[in-house]
Amino acid sequence: MLTNKKILLCVCGGIAAFKAAALTSKLVQEGASVKIIMTESAKEFVTPLTFQALSRQPVYDYTFYEPNPENIAHIDLADWADVVLIAPATANVIGKLANGIADDMLTTTLLATKAPVYIAPAMNVNMYNHQAVQKNMQILRQYGYHFVESGEGFLACGWIGKGRLAEPEDILEVLKKHFQPTIGGLSGKRVVITAGPTQEKIDPVRYFTNHSSGKMGYALAKAAKERGANVLLISGPVTLSPPYGVEVVPVTSAKDMYEAVMTHFEQADIVIKSAAVADYRPKETFEQKRKKQPGVWSIEMERTTDILQTLGEQKDAQILVGFAAESEQVEFYAKDKLKRKNLDIIIANDISAEGAGFKSDTNIVTVITRDHRKKTYPQLSKDEVSFNILNEIELYMERNAIK
Ligand code: PMT
Repeated sequence: MLTNKKILLCVCGGIAAFKAAALTSKLVQEGASVKIIMTESAKEFVTPLTFQALSRQPVYDYTFYEPNPENIAHIDLADWADVVLIAPATANVIGKLANGIADDMLTTTLLATKAPVYIAPAMNVNMYNHQAVQKNMQILRQYGYHFVESGEGFLACGWIGKGRLAEPEDILEVLKKHFQPTIGGLSGKRVVITAGPTQEKIDPVRYFTNHSSGKMGYALAKAAKERGANVLLISGPVTLSPPYGVEVVPVTSAKDMYEAVMTHFEQADIVIKSAAVADYRPKETFEQKRKKQPGVWSIEMERTTDILQTLGEQKDAQILVGFAAESEQVEFYAKDKLKRKNLDIIIANDISAEGAGFKSDTNIVTVITRDHRKKTYPQLSKDEVSFNILNEIELYMERNAIK
């Protein structure tokens, strides 16, 4: 999988830098071409000569060393890489990257590259959990950077907790998976994805909504785009940046979402409904802010249109993929929705489970198809969940000879 793949390994200053040496060796044994950039601090832990000997390539550590007048070293490296890996990634470099700071060979190259970037953090558990570091990692996830989760356990600083660099074998697997060819591809397909919550107005200051962050839908949009699909993302109000190359239609209420979905349904090959659409909205809305009054305020609610149900009724050749957000009897209710809404595939997630459902960066899903395939996946990042869901859709199309 890694033969002749060009991997740029960025090594930051932490005790885990020694694991980056082991990783270099493994990558080279797998046939990859590995170039290494080291920060000044990284060189305090492992010498450049170690990496040079293991990679059989010169090591880059100084922005202004330009031996070749025909090119600029950091741009050349940025363009050379098929994939960039930062391992170990320190809080410092994560912070710089999240804030667009480029003040050395490593960070200038990172800002210049168009290659996918994987970040494998390693640091003290308290640094890892610090709000600033968590926020920076969140920003980078939104920018489309991939993370190789840190492990938990005994840390070199003496603390026990999260912050260990992932093991070289595990990082190797992540890179192999990156280069794994996807099944078929979605090139030429029009994929409509809904994401996020809806807001149902009461008056100019109040509305009903739910906890959806849009992460699941945005990850799906990114994954579908990466497979060559033409992706339209119909999104409720969220704070995420749209994935690169994805067209977005912003909506607010369930009614807006219904109208947007119906407008684009006919042209769609695949519709994935990961949005958490309000089932009810206030029967009456107020144009002026309703003043506080003594006693109870009862709001009468009415049903919104079930968009997915409508699509199921009007479906022609489109593949319809729904989600089931359940907190009990997950599979039972998911199967019921699959049948009742005339879907091809339903993705069941238990929203009461730790690390699944709303807001979380991870999800735990069971994929159930109309042709009776059922597969439960473990807790995975929403990017990985999306990868698996798209594989399942492609497999479904293949099994049912859908072109
Ligand atoms: O956005 P995140 O924070 O990442 O969270 C992800 C998620 C939990 C929102 C997502 O994984 C998920 O489960 N989305 C579906 C939520 C939901 O509304 O489930 P439901 O079981 O109530 O609805 C079933 C299906 O009908 C869904 O595909 C939904 O989009 C659709 N529906 C529901 C109501 C309605 N009026 N119209 C619809 O189309």
